[in-house]
Amino acid sequence: MPTPVLYCRDPLRPKRVDEHFAAEAAAVRAAGGAVALVDHDALLAGEPDRAVASVPVDLPEAAWYRGWMVPTDRYAELADALARRGVRLRVPPGRYRAVHELPGWYRAFEAVTPASAWLPVTPGATVADEELAELAARLPAGPGIVKDFVKSRKHEWHEACFVPDLADTVRLGRVVRRFLDLQGDDLAGGIVLRAFEPFDDPEVRVWWRDGSPELVTPHPDSARIRCPEPDLAAVRPAVEALGGGLVATDLARRTDGAWRVVEAGSGQVSDLHPDVDRAGFAALLTG
Ligand SMILES: Nc1ncnc2c1ncn2[C@@H]1O[C@H](COP(=O)(O)OP(=O)(O)OP(=O)(O)O)[C@@H](O)[C@H]1O
Ligand SMILES: [Mg+2]
Repeated sequence: MPTPVLYCRDPLRPKRVDEHFAAEAAAVRAAGGAVALVDHDALLAGEPDRAVASVPVDLPEAAWYRGWMVPTDRYAELADALARRGVRLRVPPGRYRAVHELPGWYRAFEAVTPASAWLPVTPGATVADEELAELAARLPAGPGIVKDFVKSRKHEWHEACFVPDLADTVRLGRVVRRFLDLQGDDLAGGIVLRAFEPFDDPEVRVWWRDGSPELVTPHPDSARIRCPEPDLAAVRPAVEALGGGLVATDLARRTDGAWRVVEAGSGQVSDLHPDVDRAGFAALLTG
């Protein structure tokens, strides 16, 4: 049976795959996979049954989701709505949450990723300086970065991401509150503080399927297409601990030469560098 892959539909041409994923979906079809469409806007609007209305019913094989990021509670609604159509997801909601959000993957990766501490925050809520000082005290002294359970505001680096000294609570509070403002309702889970580590090169994205590293690509932000082969010996057991499915790990070489995991995430929602051969990637899903 062909492996079903659920792609986000194009908002303007609903019978087509969103342009951002169109080449990849074509490669999946060419590799013998079966492409179906979900309406990402409807899913995020809290209408999961409408989101999956065009997915064929009673698929014998479990489906991958592949597309724009889905918050963990919406992913659980997606799984339920699909189940009502007799369709299973390859990655159940609990496993998606564990891979998508830092608090889910951090313990397994603790030895290979910057030290991190987090605080659940609901969108629209604020955080007191004392709470932030307590959080920062759990990390080594020195610079840090701010993000939520999934994303940073790396493009607003000085304003809402980088903290030169975690012990400077006034500055930390300013960066965190600016971050919360900018994230608004899109805040995922809460605040994460991470120890800053100096890295040398652009990041390398390693794609794992069921615990095995299948593909090494440049990070989508990287200007180069060739990338070094990172040392994965210490990363493999961490990925294995997350269980099966698609995992993407972003690795960078620290200035002392150690390969570090900048972040882990679900390969179902990680972006693929535009120059990467789509056929190679499709094999990850259909093979
Ligand atoms: N602990 C750290 N030490 C040094 N630099 C960091 C650290 N964490 C993040 N960075 C830098 O900030 C960037 C953004 O961080 P991160 O990858 O965690 O966020 P993101 O918004 O999820 O990014 P992506 O676009 O990869 O999804 C990283 O690519 C890296 O350059
Ligand atoms: Mg990243």
